[in-house]
This record gives sequence, structure tokens and C-alpha cells, in this order.
Amino acid sequence: MLNNKADSKTNIDKISGSKIIVALDYADATSAMSLVNQLDPTLCKLKVGKELFTAAGPQLVEQLVAKNFQVFLDLKFHDIPNTVAKACKAASDLGVWMLNVHASGGLEMMQAAKQAVEKSPNRPFLIAVTVLTSMNKAQLSLIGIKGTLENHVVRLAKLTKQAGLDGVVCSAGEAPKLRKELGSDFCLVTPGIRPENASLDDQKRVASPKAALSMGASYLVIGRPITQATQPLAALTQIYKEITQPQ
Ligand code: C5P
Repeated sequence: MLNNKADSKTNIDKISGSKIIVALDYADATSAMSLVNQLDPTLCKLKVGKELFTAAGPQLVEQLVAKNFQVFLDLKFHDIPNTVAKACKAASDLGVWMLNVHASGGLEMMQAAKQAVEKSPNRPFLIAVTVLTSMNKAQLSLIGIKGTLENHVVRLAKLTKQAGLDGVVCSAGEAPKLRKELGSDFCLVTPGIRPENASLDDQKRVASPKAALSMGASYLVIGRPITQATQPLAALTQIYKEITQPQ
């Protein structure tokens, strides 16, 4: 469970909704909306990333919010503290439920981001990206990061918590360690989810929805297993049932 502490007027109170975040990885608003119109906001939240946001803009986000979807704006802000704070304020004003920054932007940048969202009447969850899953040890070494990738992930996750953010994006494989190190109040948002028998696509380290939750994930980001399904609502409903039915 997340920390519902004093800032009770916030979007954080909406933790009770679905744990499924459908990744809207589309090139334009029309394609995204044709999928969204088949989905149900009680069964999932939606993630808007850089491609769709750059093509369709804030209007699309507002449209999704108006349809009662909780929106994760996945723009991974990384800039000087003042710029990131203003971007976070602008995202909060759109009514998004969650947004993110790069933990590598540093403690001051994350603190500035947190301060900015806290002023919002509808404070969104604010999480950070630690190490992109496209990075390996060799790539990290090229940018001057020594030591293991896992240690760097934990270091950045701890910095994220120190800055007062709500959680991080991580793979299901990283979740048990982060849950242990960062505690039960820390939000872990996990992509790389594949229901049993689903195609892996380009994902290499995957977990089933149930397995990811049992490994400590708070939310599951799921794209193609739902968006490319012949019947997206049926695919979503199936996963929803799987993770909500008692053992
Ligand atoms: O289609 P699929 O389920 O693989 O989509 C996963 C989503 O999660 C995509 O939007 C992808 O960009 C995002 N993501 C990821 N791995 C990360 C961070 C984000 O797959 N480490």
C-alpha cells in the first residue's frame, strides 16, 4: 500500500483502482482513441508516452481524463530543476494521475518536481525511472557508472525515496529487492508483463501479471498483449480477473 498520509486531497487516494496500466503506444490520436473507446476505466488506467504525446498533445490527455481514465503521463522529464518543476506543474494541471522524471536528474531536480506537484489541487503520483532497461553494464560504464547495474538501480531508487517521490519504474525481476530496500509504501510500476502463452514481442525479461504482483509490483504496465489483441476488452478483462480473483 502507498502512503496516504497528510496530503489526502491528492490523486494518491485513487490507489484503489485497477492495477493495470494499458500502454497507449500509438502514433496518433485517432488510433489511440479507437482502442480507448473499447476499454473501461474501471478495469484499467492508461499510459501516454513520448510518441503519442508529441503527436497528439495535451488535448488527447485531457480527452482521456474527461472519459474518467486515470492517466500516467510517461514523459520521463530530465532537465534542470526549474524546468522539470514547471513541466511537472503543467502535467499536473492536465489532471494526470501519475507522471515521471529520470532519477539521474539528481536529488535537487526530483525535490523541485515534488514541490511542483504538491501545489497541484489534484496531486499526481510522482515516480522516477532508475536505469533504462535498454542499458546494460557496458552502456553504464561508457557514461562513467562503475559497479553493478543492480547496485545503481538501488542507489537511484533510494535517492528517489529521499527526494520524497512516490516510487519508481522497475522490472518485475528488480521488484523483490526494491521492495525489501525501499519498504512497503514505495510504488513499483512494472512493465515487461506477459500473460501465460502471450508473445514476448521484443521484451526479454518478462513476468506474468500475477507473478509480478507477487514479486512486489504495485502496478503493471501492459501494452501489446491488450492493444494488439483481436478483442482488447476481452484480453483486459481476462487479465483483470486473473489478478483480482482470490487464490
Ligand atoms: O507492449 P508492451 O507490453 O511491451 O509495452 C510496455 C510498455 O512499457 C511500453 O510503453 C514501453 O515503452 C514501456 N516500458 C518498458 N520497459 C521499461 C520502461 C517502459 O517496456 N523499462
